[in-house]
Amino acid sequence: MLNKEEILKRLKGVIYPGFEKSIVDFGFVKSVKEGDPIEVDVEIVSSNPEMVKELKEDIKRVLTPHVAIIRIAQPKIPDEKSNSVSGKNIAPQIKNFIMVSSGKGGVGKSTTTLNLAISMAKLGKKVGILDADIYGPNIPRMLGETQTQPQVIGNKLKPILSHGVEMMSMGVLMEEGASLIWRGSMIMKAIEQLLKDVLWSELDILFLDMPPGTGDAQLTLAQSVPVTAGVCVTTPQVVALDDSKRGLDMFEKLHIPIAGIVENMSGFICPDNGKEYDIFGKGTTEAIAKDYNTQILAEIPIEPAVRVGGDSGKPISFYQSESITAKRYEEAAKKLWEEIEKINNDGGADNSAIQPVMDGQSACSK
Ligand SMILES: Nc1ncnc2c1ncn2[C@@H]1O[C@H](COP(=O)(O)OP(=O)(O)OP(=O)(O)O)[C@@H](O)[C@H]1O
Ligand SMILES: [Mg+2]
Repeated sequence: MLNKEEILKRLKGVIYPGFEKSIVDFGFVKSVKEGDPIEVDVEIVSSNPEMVKELKEDIKRVLTPHVAIIRIAQPKIPDEKSNSVSGKNIAPQIKNFIMVSSGKGGVGKSTTTLNLAISMAKLGKKVGILDADIYGPNIPRMLGETQTQPQVIGNKLKPILSHGVEMMSMGVLMEEGASLIWRGSMIMKAIEQLLKDVLWSELDILFLDMPPGTGDAQLTLAQSVPVTAGVCVTTPQVVALDDSKRGLDMFEKLHIPIAGIVENMSGFICPDNGKEYDIFGKGTTEAIAKDYNTQILAEIPIEPAVRVGGDSGKPISFYQSESITAKRYEEAAKKLWEEIEKINNDGGADNSAIQPVMDGQSACSK
């Protein structure tokens, strides 16, 4: 017979569908009782019935050959389709939230967020960037704002205005590296505060620059605000594409419509002769876009000016707006805006199924 500890150890092998962490690590396992049969109580944040089926099978699998009674509690499906997360929207003055994510680190999420945001502002939209990468906030450096202190008004913070967009990041609030020891629950609180306690204007779009992978930050945001759409960033190597699929699966699991994919580091434009060469490959994302019924927003080449722009706080879309790459970002911004309008005309995202978890006592607090 398995004891409680052994049961929990086995349950750690059950990954919450669409994410990287186990149901134990997310804090979704509410109780386990040893015996024959074993009893397992789980509470999840999605009302998707398929999720229950998938989880039950997985739990059964890890406990085999022992017999178990598995109870999975779900939030109720709201009566009407709504574009809010069960009514929860902690930043209601913002019209659209765009989550920029990928299954993998270092593929260019922050670079893409930044240049898309600036290009969107050039289209006349009111734009903000929330750097949701609490462990490794890069947006302040990429905008040249590492030394800028946000203005405090009462107990709220004014976002920093830079290159035509509003921005807030842990990077301007804390010493470098100070958040490295944070646990999941602190990440969730921090993100909520960056939404709630920052005086964001009435924005057309707030871009959410996500940390790599699929974890606490992604779940928190989906629970705190109605995410209009997701943008997936990937690089063209076949191995990177597997990770991207994970990122796209996460959007699906969270009921976030996918606005499109940005294939970054797609070919190389040689500064000497302007010719384009394949380094990591090119165009490999097309098939995935088809699989997920979405579009390629842009193919952004490897270009030294993109990296230099990021390192020096001089984004290519702002300072070299005539370059091929800046033009591609502009095209991508146009496509993205069209997609946002389409989604909103269709009644908006139905991520209403993602329920908020208890304040402070977050379900992801482990
Ligand atoms: N198209 C490009 N051409 C050249 N360099 C690029 C390009 N895209 C991104 N880079 C560089 O690659 C590095 C990683 O990019 P970035 O920080 O945007 O990735 P990320 O996905 O946000 O990473 P993380 O997962 O750490 O948040 C940066 O130095 C950036 O300047
Ligand atoms: Mg980043």
